Amino acid sequence: METIRVGVIGAGGIAQRSHIPAYLNTPGVELVAVADINEKKLNYVADKFGIPRKFTNYHDLLEQADIDAVSVCTPNYLHKEMSVNALKAGKNVLCEKPVAVRGADAREILEAAEASGKVFMGAMVQRFRSASQVLKRFIDDGKFGDIYYVKGGFIRRRGIPGLGGWFTTKEKSFGGCMLDIGVHALDRIYWLMGAPEPVSVSGATFQAFKDDAIDGGWPPLETRVGDVYPGINDVEDLASGYITFANGAALFIESSWAGNCETTYYMQLLGTKAGALQDPRGLKVFGEDSGELLDIEPQIATEVNAFEAEIAHFMDCIRSGKQPITKPHEIINVAKIIEGIYKSAENGGKQVMLADL
Ligand SMILES: NC(=O)c1ccc[n+]([C@@H]2O[C@H](COP(=O)([O-])OP(=O)(O)OC[C@H]3O[C@@H](n4cnc5c(N)ncnc54)[C@H](O)[C@@H]3O)[C@@H](O)[C@H]2O)c1
Repeated sequence: METIRVGVIGAGGIAQRSHIPAYLNTPGVELVAVADINEKKLNYVADKFGIPRKFTNYHDLLEQADIDAVSVCTPNYLHKEMSVNALKAGKNVLCEKPVAVRGADAREILEAAEASGKVFMGAMVQRFRSASQVLKRFIDDGKFGDIYYVKGGFIRRRGIPGLGGWFTTKEKSFGGCMLDIGVHALDRIYWLMGAPEPVSVSGATFQAFKDDAIDGGWPPLETRVGDVYPGINDVEDLASGYITFANGAALFIESSWAGNCETTYYMQLLGTKAGALQDPRGLKVFGEDSGELLDIEPQIATEVNAFEAEIAHFMDCIRSGKQPITKPHEIINVAKIIEGIYKSAENGGKQVMLADL
């Protein structure tokens, strides 16, 4: 396959800021079509980025646009339906996060991918950050030994996205901060841990800022052309989960859209040979050598454009037939863990056994 012809479904913040520019910057890719139910935004985006074909109905894009691949960049409740329909139409699919928030939904998408023989990839962009790639290499080279405990999170002090729109409407988002930004931290850590089999989850969720919530500015205001936000806010603004794994490891994960705390993105990873701390100050590896404790600060050469790296990987998988970085069991287990966190939180923190999901 020489040029890969691509369509984007959903022309909002992430499409305008990341997917569309990344496709336009990737050699061997032609961005030929875009779909959005919001016609005003559809016209604005098609004009701004010079995308030749536009559709208000994504089924028409799948049938008429003569494309090889799509990015699904719509609100969460549409991810399964659109991914499955695109796969059935013979398209390779890159689906935004959260791919699914129920194990059963993730399984349904991956079964459709298997049946179609096409590539299905979760848009887990944090895996492509330079520090993530360096850490993964260290871990795969055995430098950390067995990873037995990790804690991490994605914490915002004031950063509720799209207040009053689909992000904060449970019917359309399926939940708040845990599956919006918590899933970035969870997916990346789970992948770094080597994707062990999760056994149980306990969770807690809170909505402390319902009455004095502030819009955090995502999607960027200039991308919200013609959007209507009805004003609903019925999802959590803070969530945490404690997960145990069949190999004996445990993970504590937390996320917040709003809290009286410091904004941060962090991970502390403990292995039998070494550990790592990553936070806004950088990456530090803690080890021991010749009887001395040793702190190492890897000098990571360059920060890549993670969205472009993600799109390049998707294109490479389509061309070469190799399996995407997001493996089916990882996508399913991340969805099951999130489902478990919400189920446990609804039941006063009672442990949920993931074999039941
Ligand atoms: N990877 C990341 O870092 C990242 C960042 C932000 C958002 N996201 C994810 O991207 C997705 C979109 O988020 P966003 O911030 O772009 O939201 P957004 O509201 O800006 O954009 C969503 C777009 O989908 C369109 N849409 C709704 N229903 C549609 C339909 N039936 N057919 C076609 N288009 C439809 C809307 O009109 C809107 O333009 C979400 O799943 C979100 O979680 C990922």
